[in-house]
Amino acid sequence: MTAAPQNSSPESPVPQSPDQRIIVPLDLPSAPAALALVEALPEVSFWKVGLELFVSAGPGLLAELRARQKRIFLDLKFHDIPNTMAGACAAAGRYGVDLMTVHAAAGQAALMAAQAAATAGAEAAGVDPPLLLGVTLLTSIDPSTLALELKIPLEAANYALQMALLTQDSGLGGVVCSPQEASQLRRFLPADFALVCPGVRPTWASSQDQRRTLTPAQALQAGATYLVIGRPITADPDPAAAFQRICEECSAAFTA
Ligand code: C5P
Repeated sequence: MTAAPQNSSPESPVPQSPDQRIIVPLDLPSAPAALALVEALPEVSFWKVGLELFVSAGPGLLAELRARQKRIFLDLKFHDIPNTMAGACAAAGRYGVDLMTVHAAAGQAALMAAQAAATAGAEAAGVDPPLLLGVTLLTSIDPSTLALELKIPLEAANYALQMALLTQDSGLGGVVCSPQEASQLRRFLPADFALVCPGVRPTWASSQDQRRTLTPAQALQAGATYLVIGRPITADPDPAAAFQRICEECSAAFTA
């Protein structure tokens, strides 16, 4: 597969300081609960809004976050026919968010339509276009589900790579991937193609339901652009100190 993006996503310069590369998910059921967390953690500049919160709180929450000068990862993982993907991405592009997700498995026509529509929606609204990310393979899909239920005859890592290459070929700006896959993907993808990695755990935090984790510093060294880190920060007795400690560990890894 060759990279021939036509509706290229905006460039994604790799941010330098760890505090700008850590995205904290607002895994909460309501706008008041989400905004309370945002107010309690003023050091966090980048927040993820997923399906549960967006469906319950609506786009007004995004305006609240923007009013607080926060960056936003709108993680709605669209997956539909090209015309519907384009309509949804045009609408979402108007929100002025920084990152947005679609499923790579929707196929190239849908991905290209999504990219073009997200850019057009943002331009129509006079905001910067979002960096569109392809979801390669949900981490909840284990090898037996991939082979026996979805009938996909590839190893999970290879399937994730193929979906990342399809995403790049379609002109999107990055993918969501496991930190375990980041170094392999980085060998095939340029430095300005964003790799956004959940499943990151400091050594001092519980892994909870995440499997095959890397530490934040290891994930950055493997080539991740952004890290999505939730409960190690939000469930810590002192979330601000946990965020600070993670930033310091990442900085130390790069200056060691
Ligand atoms: O609390 P924790 O750090 O596990 O949160 C990770 C966040 O990233 C959650 O919002 C989760 O839904 C999301 N995510 C993930 N694995 C994926 C895609 C998204 O954990 N493959």
